[in-house]
Amino acid sequence: MAQQEDQLKYVISHAKEYGYIFPSSDIYDGLSATYDYGQNGVLLKNNIKEYWWKSMIQLHENIVGIDAAIFMHPTTWKASGHIDAFNDPMIDNKDSKKRYRADVLVEDHIAKIEAKIEKEITKAAKRFGDEFDAEMFKKTNPRVQRYLIEINEISSRLAKSLTDNDLADVKLLIEELGIADPVSGSKNWTDVRQFNLMFGTQLGSVAEQSQTLYLRPETAQGIFVNFLNVQRTGRMKVPFGIAQIGKAFRNEIVARQFIFRMREFEQMEMQFFVTPGTELEAYEAWKQKRMQWHLNLGLGEANYRFHNHEKLAHYANAAADIEFNFPFGFKELEGIHSRTDFDLRQHEQHSGKKLQYFDPEQQKNYIPYVIETSIGLDRMFLAVFSSALKNEELEDGSERVVLKIPAALAPIKAAILPLIKKDGLPELAHQILNDLKFDFNIEFDEKDSIGKRYRRHDAIGTPFCITIDHDSLENQTVTVRDRDSMSQERISIENLRSYLSKRVSLNALLKNLE
Ligand code: GAP
Repeated sequence: MAQQEDQLKYVISHAKEYGYIFPSSDIYDGLSATYDYGQNGVLLKNNIKEYWWKSMIQLHENIVGIDAAIFMHPTTWKASGHIDAFNDPMIDNKDSKKRYRADVLVEDHIAKIEAKIEKEITKAAKRFGDEFDAEMFKKTNPRVQRYLIEINEISSRLAKSLTDNDLADVKLLIEELGIADPVSGSKNWTDVRQFNLMFGTQLGSVAEQSQTLYLRPETAQGIFVNFLNVQRTGRMKVPFGIAQIGKAFRNEIVARQFIFRMREFEQMEMQFFVTPGTELEAYEAWKQKRMQWHLNLGLGEANYRFHNHEKLAHYANAAADIEFNFPFGFKELEGIHSRTDFDLRQHEQHSGKKLQYFDPEQQKNYIPYVIETSIGLDRMFLAVFSSALKNEELEDGSERVVLKIPAALAPIKAAILPLIKKDGLPELAHQILNDLKFDFNIEFDEKDSIGKRYRRHDAIGTPFCITIDHDSLENQTVTVRDRDSMSQERISIENLRSYLSKRVSLNALLKNLE
């Protein structure tokens, strides 16, 4: 646990030091769970968006994008169920005055039991050596079996009390498990209460005439309310999808773990409208497609896993998360949900407008079913950034910090480094920069020794450093250093564009998806 906290702290401080992420309103000591993206952060974020957007819109003939307003008619949130049910169970510790999500306290308790299982497995693996079969051990070891039964009992009870809205039982569970406040160790808890996560604000200048608006807690509803607008104007035939990237806001009770859980964040969501009865097939296909999108980045297959939901929301008939191995363990990165016709049906009822599709093949009207893929952009940023950050020991015994961001997502594709600040080298460097800048984001850097500049760009995650030396003036060649292997090769200036294109372009990454 302490090691995980250290790892997260390291990620946070590197993100700040290298212009990726700053606490919001930093000069006023920040605002909890809100962050600003710096000069490198915004570029990485935009590149992730572009990878997602193009993979959805450009690679699918039947998916289009929209950009809906953050403010929506208040009835939207009544219809979607957010006003009545977008709550988290909250509990306060009377001694420390700290506020927690009651379900998260129980989940953290489960995580501790899971850690015990992992410890048993590690111990046994050492004892049995190469012969060790972890799955068999989990199935047969009595102690592990006891832990698994315990986890199952706790999870089922929590799920049942939350579904039944039996908050008294959630408190009882916390007490029975002996859960203490992680900060103070006190077990002096208040009752559990529901807390609505939507931020409300007022529309209109005169108090009596004002109307409560909500900052959208998800982008998806902007897609649902535009379903017919897009279907008709785009002459879309089911199955088709509508994608959107945009801000969402949630008044999270406990917002921690850096940009994993924020109060203002960005989502990339796609609703895929299908014929009723075909939704489970489409759901399976989207699960595989989304996993392929992630694996294509090369962050490591072992860092991902599916978590299939056993308890489903009343409107869903299948749901899974793609979990990522963050510095604090496996957590949800993306959700893929088969949401039936719940949202469109609700909007039809609340608006009184028909939200149906006339199927020319079946010659009938119906409300399409929906498969949703929903990923947090900031979480995706954290996945890329935290898994890319490495501390490497080099052959000569020295260390380097390197950010091995996939080249297609890296903020700066190449740094142009004149070896020295005279003899015409900066001029040639600028000439090269001015030629390449139309295709790539390139940085000119002439400060400090060349070794220091290499280290700085390793830490920023720049995939290539292009060094201009005296030979460059003579023979029109430059040295290109590869961030990951640190190998260097001599390239002619006229070949630089195609050399970089092959290695840093998003197109190559997108082509792999086909
Ligand atoms: N429309 C479905 C929906 O919003 P969700 O599971 O609540 O589902 C989808 O959110 C994704 O949005 C999550 O998988 C996560 O990546 C991201 N997300 C949710 N809450 C977040 C928060 N407070 N901070 C950052 N990302 C968040």
